[in-house]
Amino acid sequence: MTAPEKLYFYPAWLRIWHGFNALGILALIITGISMQSSIESSQVVGFKMIVNLHNIAGIVVTLSYFVYFIGNIVTPNGKYYLIKPQGFLKKPIKQAIYYAWGMFHGMPAPFPLSAKRKFNPLQKYIYIIVMYMAVPVVIVTGLALLFPEIIIDKVYTFSGVFVTAIFHSAMGFFISIFLVIHIYIASIGKSPLENFKSIINGWHQVH
Ligand code: HEM
Repeated sequence: MTAPEKLYFYPAWLRIWHGFNALGILALIITGISMQSSIESSQVVGFKMIVNLHNIAGIVVTLSYFVYFIGNIVTPNGKYYLIKPQGFLKKPIKQAIYYAWGMFHGMPAPFPLSAKRKFNPLQKYIYIIVMYMAVPVVIVTGLALLFPEIIIDKVYTFSGVFVTAIFHSAMGFFISIFLVIHIYIASIGKSPLENFKSIINGWHQVH
């Protein structure tokens, strides 16, 4: 039996970004949901305090996003996000079938991770959608809501602030759903805690 190979998948800058981002987004989700209930007397923490915490968490996520964005340009980590046209749909579908059926029937993972492949094709698409679409939309709309004077007055018959808030909440909701799936998928492996240890110590074990 050969010893498992260890790959240094998560350099320090990426782990620091991930830590700030994860805590920041968790804080945004919790404060964002509690802001939906505006009955002041029913809240343990006052509404103003919740808004302040939401704004601070938003700024933390925004600043750490720049670390992620620039880090993926100036370090080799960005290459793991590149998509090849061959098997554009076939590959993620194969991975989805594995998640829905194969892994419960002892099938080997169709895209085992290696030094060249850090993400399976489905995971890669989801990370791209979340990190290069959903999170930027939440950041831009969040900043706009922080400075509402920059928002245009009307979008057709709707108020610009209302439309911005709808986009902001919808994307926030999408990221919340992603987070649940992300944590579930991260728990799949030789042992449920293995990937969580990797994102803390940087090393991924290939079996
Ligand atoms: C409690 C919250 C979180 C936990 C426990 C967690 C856990 C993990 C784990 C174990 C990994 C490494 C394995 C893998 O790639 O699946 C990872 C990577 C990653 N996570 Fe999270 N995560 C959390 C929150 C988030 C959030 C909120 C986002 C984005 C909005 C996010 C985006 C990512 C991305 C993009 C990677 C891959 C980074 C790279 O290697 O380039 N995570 N996470």
